[in-house]
Amino acid sequence: MEGFNAMSQVIGKVLYSAEEIARRVKELGATISQDYRAGAGRDPHRRPLLVVGLLKGALPFMADLIRAIDIPMEYDFMAVSSYRGRTSPGEVRILKDLDSPVGSRDLLIVEDIVDTGHTLDHILRRLKAREPASLRVCTLLDKPARRQLDVPVDYVGFTLKENLFVVGYGLDYAELYRNLPYIGVLKPEYVRR
Ligand code: IMP
Repeated sequence: MEGFNAMSQVIGKVLYSAEEIARRVKELGATISQDYRAGAGRDPHRRPLLVVGLLKGALPFMADLIRAIDIPMEYDFMAVSSYRGRTSPGEVRILKDLDSPVGSRDLLIVEDIVDTGHTLDHILRRLKAREPASLRVCTLLDKPARRQLDVPVDYVGFTLKENLFVVGYGLDYAELYRNLPYIGVLKPEYVRR
């Protein structure tokens, strides 16, 4: 296959290595398991936690996180359209909804990154209307400096102090680089202006 650069050549700086991510995901899984175990008022086998991954970005994180969660759980996915590149930043559309009703279930939303908060705000409002028993959010990355809406985030993997656009481990630039095993910043020459 000629004509393709090795993926690592496009990355200017690695922010979180695969090892750091793996460590942090294990910690998050342990904390989540502990919290839900402590709060479980009913038989978790009869009404297990429902972990909801947001496609596409959360896929690698979700795959690792669920295997670090040590309580009975089910998982499902939602897909939302990205507003990026459009004129109105608040526009979010549901492309794939959950397969089953969520009333009286404990829901944990798994996101790749919370940026302005518009995506999460939209999803939280839609899911709250279905009256789950509880609704929490776990995001791998948080960019608080860019927040426009005040959304509750219960579990955060890493907080980006700077306003950087990051790729890898599910995060894309124009659909590329999701398969990098680490998270980094693209070299300027790979970003279209
Ligand atoms: P929000 O609605 O502005 O919070 O944006 C959420 C979505 O924008 C995320 O789920 C990502 O798909 C995308 N996004 C935001 N920041 C980044 C980034 O730094 N890299 C890649 N995607 C991002």
